[in-house]
Amino acid sequence: MNFNIAIDGPAGAGKSTVAKIVADKLNMTYIDTGAMYRAITLLSIQHGKNDVGDIINLAQEVEIKIHEKYIYVNGEDVTEDVRNLEVTNKVSAIAQIPEIRVLMTKLQREMARNKGVVMDGRDIGTAILPDAKYKFYLTANVKERAARRHKELIKNGQKVTLEQIEKDIIQRDRQDKLRAFSPLAVAEDAAIIDTTEKNIMQVVQEILCYIKRGEGFVL
Ligand code: DC
Repeated sequence: MNFNIAIDGPAGAGKSTVAKIVADKLNMTYIDTGAMYRAITLLSIQHGKNDVGDIINLAQEVEIKIHEKYIYVNGEDVTEDVRNLEVTNKVSAIAQIPEIRVLMTKLQREMARNKGVVMDGRDIGTAILPDAKYKFYLTANVKERAARRHKELIKNGQKVTLEQIEKDIIQRDRQDKLRAFSPLAVAEDAAIIDTTEKNIMQVVQEILCYIKRGEGFVL
């Protein structure tokens, strides 16, 4: 496809699951930008770095590659590791560092340069790809988002309570929305989809309908 799709929204709104399926159906490349911030976070934990300057140095030297559903840091597959709870709890703080965002912005724009990507994140429609032809903002109420995350973590064998997840989500939302540099926000020209009462395929269909209308073809 000769266009890009931006999918933004808070944690647990269903972005990545939906974005993966949309990319698959349209034969486009899926890029999970949250995983990139998670990769830097994982690296900082592995190297025991907490100082912002040290973390920026790590980020400047790291090689991050995304291939299909996998993310590689310096050639190592970290797809599973970036989703652990320690990374999840620390990532929002790392994603606030302006220098890190500048580095990621460059990388993400490079990945989208030849078009044909479905990119999910927080600032894709507003800051990374303001010219993306299709922009969606997925959201859902906090209780529903916490329940989805809880289910996912339990399935992956992590021990957490629903109350804790809900607290973490509220905290992360606040950090993502209030940060000074490219915060989570709805792009003016984005279609807002509330996924609280919808299943994954309903959301996918809604997105495909928009694109179908825009492109004037039957998908
Ligand atoms: O979507 P996720 O939960 O994997 O995102 C992890 C964190 O990274 C989350 O706190 C928000 C941040 N993030 C961001 O600031 N900008 C993006 N484009 C993607 C994610």
